[in-house]
Amino acid sequence: MALLTCKDLSLGYEGHEIVRGLNFEVHSGDYLCIVGENGSGKSTLMKTVLGLQPPLGGTVRTGDGLAQNEIGYLPQQTVVQRDFPASVREIVLSGCGGRMGLRPFYSKEEKQLAKDMMEKLGLTALAKRCYRELSGGQQQRVLLARALCATKKLLLLDEPVSGLDPKVTIEMYALIARLNRDEGITVIMISHDIGAAVRYASHILHIGNTVFFGTRDEYLASDLSDSFLKGGEAE
Ligand SMILES: Nc1ncnc2c1ncn2[C@@H]1O[C@H](COP(=O)(O)OP(=O)(O)OP(=O)(O)O)[C@@H](O)[C@H]1O
Ligand SMILES: [Mg+2]
Repeated sequence: MALLTCKDLSLGYEGHEIVRGLNFEVHSGDYLCIVGENGSGKSTLMKTVLGLQPPLGGTVRTGDGLAQNEIGYLPQQTVVQRDFPASVREIVLSGCGGRMGLRPFYSKEEKQLAKDMMEKLGLTALAKRCYRELSGGQQQRVLLARALCATKKLLLLDEPVSGLDPKVTIEMYALIARLNRDEGITVIMISHDIGAAVRYASHILHIGNTVFFGTRDEYLASDLSDSFLKGGEAE
């Protein structure tokens, strides 16, 4: 059974349709890369999968024992968010929020989990630092640690390398690949970096006037990847 099944999905706001005909499945262990032009609906799709935004039509179903509040999410960053005045530890810990229900305090286990995730991502020395004083690469690692507090199964990453320099970008991709390969965490990542998408992903979803879903090899064999890889209009 699939972790995630999207059927005949159409997305938009206030009845205005942005994209339609999305059909895809994500299975445990997959690494799905979502590509497409600015404004094509990639972030909206992630919000819909998380239940933060209702679809205009179609269905999103989780399966294989996955609950919607067990998905880790790294949102697309805005300038305002980069300036957030909280400590690294507080932000990582807030990833435990999904399972707290009405309980107002973090449990001992949740505090330990946040500590373990900071350790795993090399953030322990930064735990007390203010998030807004960190470099872009450090901030993205904090947000990844936060997302990992929410899940052992499925990570949704919305442009996790946006604004990072080439060296830190490669480190971030390596970290995500390791989580997918060694820890069996299923990854869905939005990226404008089509080269990285075809390098790391097992499957590609291309959103636009033409919608494509298939394996990485099927995508590479398609006309769509051809025009997109050359930087042309893929529509
Ligand atoms: N809250 C909202 N209300 C109304 N329209 C919205 C809202 N959020 C996004 N949109 C519109 O929906 C379209 C798709 O936006 P979305 O953020 O999903 O695109 P995207 O593919 O993630 O783009 P980018 O690559 O720039 O991040 C855009 O035209 C955008 O202006
Ligand atoms: Mg987006």
